[in-house]
Amino acid sequence: MWNATVLSLFPEMFPGTLDFSLAGKALKNGIWSLKTINIRDFSDDRNGKVDDVPFGGGPGMVIKADVLHNALRSVSNNEGPRIYLSPRGRKFDQQLAKNLSKKNGVVFICGRYEGVDERFLISNDIEEISIGDFILSGGELAAQLMMDSIIRLLPNVVGNSEVLLDESFETGLLEYPLYTQPRIWNNLEVPNILLSGDHKKIKMWKTKKSEMITKLKRPDLWEKYIKS
Ligand SMILES: C[S@@+](CC[C@H](N)C(=O)[O-])C[C@H]1O[C@@H](n2cnc3c(N)ncnc32)[C@H](O)[C@@H]1O
Repeated sequence: MWNATVLSLFPEMFPGTLDFSLAGKALKNGIWSLKTINIRDFSDDRNGKVDDVPFGGGPGMVIKADVLHNALRSVSNNEGPRIYLSPRGRKFDQQLAKNLSKKNGVVFICGRYEGVDERFLISNDIEEISIGDFILSGGELAAQLMMDSIIRLLPNVVGNSEVLLDESFETGLLEYPLYTQPRIWNNLEVPNILLSGDHKKIKMWKTKKSEMITKLKRPDLWEKYIKS
């Protein structure tokens, strides 16, 4: 079983979106488990204060190192890599999702406010991961996003595992266009080749379309693809 452990000031946000569809079914079927830890439970302040103003000035509040450290110490070392969701981290991608799906699990640390005291990150073996070049109000949505893409890679989550091999990024290319019934809709026809039953030609068509789309929409991926 793959174990997600989440440290958050808002544990009630979980499982959130992960309670639905594929991930929700997999949770009920015991393919993955979820443990949430409320960071506030580790405050030694009478009023449960977890943050303070930043040294050196600046806006907002910073989550205290000792509170986070104590919260993390309540998690066993075997629960997998410790990840702090952070805009300045390495960018999350499909390859990282694959790597993380092969671990026992992942410990997600969700920041809030201006972020966390740097000494907490230095003192613990923590990797910073970003889900993109934009700022969220907290790490919870980022953790759910990462969990969703990891969970669908776990064995027996996606019914037909061929689906996973055929998806965007799997070959370094984006996905080809998809069509379903009816054959003509809004005066637009399904390309004839897809109705031909000639699997070899269909495969070639799909590759050609994937290449065209990647070149057009993601020149950065296309560059990598032709170099590899
Ligand atoms: C308002 S943000 C803090 C932003 C921080 N002051 C900065 O400028 O980089 C609060 C929390 O949201 C999470 N967060 C925000 N944007 C994120 C992103 N792009 N990827 C992952 N986590 C993010 C982090 O956990 C962060 O501590």
